Amino acid sequence: MKIELRPQRVSDAKRFFEILSNPSFTYFPAKPKSIEEEKNFLRLNREKRNNKTEFNFSIILNGEHVGAIGLRIEPSRPYLGEIGYFIDERYWGKGITTEALIQLEKFIQEELDLHRLEIRMAKENKASQRIAIKGGYKKEGIMREMLRVAGKWYDCYVYAKLI
Ligand SMILES: CC(C)(COP(=O)(O)OP(=O)(O)OC[C@H]1O[C@@H](n2cnc3c(N)ncnc32)[C@H](O)[C@@H]1OP(=O)(O)O)[C@@H](O)C(=O)NCCC(=O)NCCS
Repeated sequence: MKIELRPQRVSDAKRFFEILSNPSFTYFPAKPKSIEEEKNFLRLNREKRNNKTEFNFSIILNGEHVGAIGLRIEPSRPYLGEIGYFIDERYWGKGITTEALIQLEKFIQEELDLHRLEIRMAKENKASQRIAIKGGYKKEGIMREMLRVAGKWYDCYVYAKLI
């Protein structure tokens, strides 16, 4: 199983739209309404990368585009990064995101100067919690009603790691 990260491209829009339209993505807030909306998001990636506010990658499994992992940095806290990820449901449970997280952290260590990494997820999102735990992140607390998906509020755990 060969897993690689590469910067996202505007031409990834159709595939991302397909993956994110899945109703099983219960705890994921960023669902594009159309391929065009997704293209507009992807067009901003270059500027965000240049500004060092977001680094978004496509996850490639044996040459096939299966998901995404990204890092967001608030300009007012340039030492703190928040990580997010998703994978096509057909590939869940194979350790792909766990490996993608390792590769993203390698990029962070080599290219950026961060001190703290956070992963936030709905309390109900067991798979995402497992990824954080396997990655060596520690649960620090609960952010009440931090996430809203399809009109429903979710409490979130915050997992973090000092690097
Ligand atoms: C969360 C998500 C990215 C996980 O991706 P993945 O590639 O399947 O993750 P991995 O295979 O690397 O690891 C998943 C772990 O969660 C575990 N897991 C999955 N569902 C679980 C559940 N319902 N209860 C407990 N553990 C669960 C798996 O067994 C595995 O742990 P293990 O290696 O100890 O067995 C994927 O489910 C997804 O895209 N979900 C929708 C989007 C989303 O929720 N993104 C995260 C937002 S914070």
